[in-house]
Amino acid sequence: MTQVSDKISSAKAIELEDKYGAHNYHPLPVVLERGSGVHVWDVEGKRYFDFLSAYSAVNQGHCHPDINFALTEQSRNLTLTSRAFYNSALGPFEKFMHDVFGYDKVLPMNTGAEAVETALKLARRWGYVKKGIAENQAKIVVVNGNFHGRTTTIISFSSDPDSYAGFGPYTPGFIEIPYNDADALAKVLKDDDSICAFMVEPIQGEAGVFVPDEGYLAACKKHCEENNVLFIADEVQTGIARTGKMLASDYEDCRPNVVILGKAISGGVLPISAVLADDHIMLTIKPGEHGSTFGGNPLACKVAEAALQVVFDENLADNAMELGKVFRDELTKFAESCELVTKVRGKGLLNAIIVNDTPDSKTAWNLCMKLRDNGLLAKPTHGNIIRFAPPLVITKAQLMECLEVIKKTFSAYEK
Ligand SMILES: Cc1ncc(COP(=O)(O)O)c(C=O)c1O
Repeated sequence: MTQVSDKISSAKAIELEDKYGAHNYHPLPVVLERGSGVHVWDVEGKRYFDFLSAYSAVNQGHCHPDINFALTEQSRNLTLTSRAFYNSALGPFEKFMHDVFGYDKVLPMNTGAEAVETALKLARRWGYVKKGIAENQAKIVVVNGNFHGRTTTIISFSSDPDSYAGFGPYTPGFIEIPYNDADALAKVLKDDDSICAFMVEPIQGEAGVFVPDEGYLAACKKHCEENNVLFIADEVQTGIARTGKMLASDYEDCRPNVVILGKAISGGVLPISAVLADDHIMLTIKPGEHGSTFGGNPLACKVAEAALQVVFDENLADNAMELGKVFRDELTKFAESCELVTKVRGKGLLNAIIVNDTPDSKTAWNLCMKLRDNGLLAKPTHGNIIRFAPPLVITKAQLMECLEVIKKTFSAYEK
């Protein structure tokens, strides 16, 4: 067997991924080997500001010492028991989650998609047991442009052909309505008693950081309440302080019946996700009816608790709110004199620039390559949108430095 040496060049690492890995991603050509706070370093030692944060999983910054401490301490004691037995970390973690988010119960899983699947099952079960929907008739309303993950059921209600095309047959039981249209929700709910839930991202991250109108979420919640339908918020990307509050749904009077968390709940250290709900919903799932070998493992519990504690200790929500405003204000001003920028939008430190070109153009990709050359990593989404989501531990001085890099790169760009 050939040995892969510790030290590897960028070119070699890319060559190996190309040759031996599935081609299910199109990464920007940069090979990272180290991270600390807002920075990552490539294998040649070049330093970059990370403006993707692993799709908002690394809100607490790379390799946060408190989270790493929890990881290494717990890894010496016990990492996995499965849920066949109790473990000493799960109960305290569940109470911690209750205290932080105010829900009766938490159901821990691993990836975001698994937590979404969990929420869908929970909603259907609640629909049958509590709402009295006829067997196998429960429907869930979703919105156009959604992104909730990559499993077969989740892609069944995606509106993005890259996600669903060629992967059928699809799971039935979903109704799609437009995003940011509470009236459309009211209409669909009025006509159908077999709807058990409405699931929505408070801000659509993958679709290109679409921020709905103020009042949209509250109006949706009201329509759900009036029709005895669960309001499910997928906060996998928007949660954990990213948008300036612990949850993006905290901005409005719309307490979700079910909250889906992932990504930054672990600070990017382990795949950890969770579903939150009150007893009358959560307890409709009985022992043996749902689970995962790794969900709720003691290592994950300790890591998640430490990661959430960092969010409080370092006031990351306030920092995201404050610096997000600086970021948008500065770039909006810059956009007035930069033809390449059509729009700047976002909330907290989840922001995007809409590049003035068609979605099938290479402009946003080329700009990201130039940003990389200038020491800042970002990635286009849907062709002409560049998302900017640095770790929330970024300081104002660092943000100003990054704004200069972005402005300089856009100004120097020639089509
Ligand atoms: C809103 C939302 N839900 C679910 C997911 C899926 O999470 P994972 O990739 O951990 O399965 C994502 C991932 O980007 C997401 O943004």
